[in-house]
This record gives sequence, C-alpha cells and structure tokens, in this order.
Amino acid sequence: MTASVLILNGPNLNMLGSREPEIYGSETLADIEESCVARGEGLDLKVDFRQSNGEGELVDWIQEASGNHAGIIINAGAYTHTSIAILDALRACGLPIIEVHLSNIFQREEFRHQSYISPVAEGVICGFGGHGYCLALEAIAKIVTTRV
Ligand code: DQA
Repeated sequence: MTASVLILNGPNLNMLGSREPEIYGSETLADIEESCVARGEGLDLKVDFRQSNGEGELVDWIQEASGNHAGIIINAGAYTHTSIAILDALRACGLPIIEVHLSNIFQREEFRHQSYISPVAEGVICGFGGHGYCLALEAIAKIVTTRV
C-alpha cells in the first residue's frame, strides 16, 4: 500500500513567489506542491500538501495525522521560532518528522536560529529553496520503508 506523507506549511508561505523573492525565490507554493507530488510518485509516496496561517489549524492537522499518514514534513514558517503548541503536537503524534526551510535560517537574523521543531525532527533541511521539500521526501521515504 502506498504510504502517505503530510506536508505542512505555516504562515505567509501562501505568499511565495511575491514574498521577498531575493530570500525565498520565485517559485510559488503551488509550484512546490507540484514538484512534491511528482517526486512522491517516483518514491511511491502519496503527498497531502497543506498551508495554513493559523497555529491552531496546524496543531489540528498534526493531531489528525497519526493513523492517516506515515510521516510529516513541516515548514512552520515563523511558528518554527515561537510555537510550543506545534512542538507539543509534533512530539505527541509519534510520526517521523522532517523540518524544512527554504532559506538558510542560520545565515539570517539571530531569532531565526532557534527552532522549537528541531528537537523532535529526524533532521532539518534548509537553504535549498523549494528543492528542500523533495530532499525531505527522499529522506522520509527511506525512514518509512526501513521502519515498516
Ligand atoms: C522559513 C524561515 C522562517 O524564519 C520564516 O519566518 C518563514 C520561512 C523558510 O522557509 O525559510 O516564514 O521557514
């Protein structure tokens, strides 16, 4: 059976393409979703790709993930640096988690160096733009198939 991966995107990522293109590039979130679905097909993974500006909605989706998905790839946007609620939900869900950022958060402001998600993530991919999501899918495919 094809495993499903939940890809979550946090606030302002719906603005990709027009939002600070010098930092985030010109790809839209729809472009990234399209690449993820295609890469998922190659890896025999179903991709459920979502975006919300709301912390609570992201928490709800994480709570609903166990039983429905084999893993979570998350770019929580600014909530990465602030949200204990998302950390708690991720910790409780029991699924493998990969953290993704388009930009290299360590080259940026000091406040972006702190992530509440990294302690519960298998790994972190940042600085490769939209391609980072495909790299995360490859990483999660390996984890999902070796843990079955
Ligand atoms: C981001 C980095 C965050 O610091 C920022 O708040 C974002 C996007 C990234 O993908 O590089 O919204 O998660």
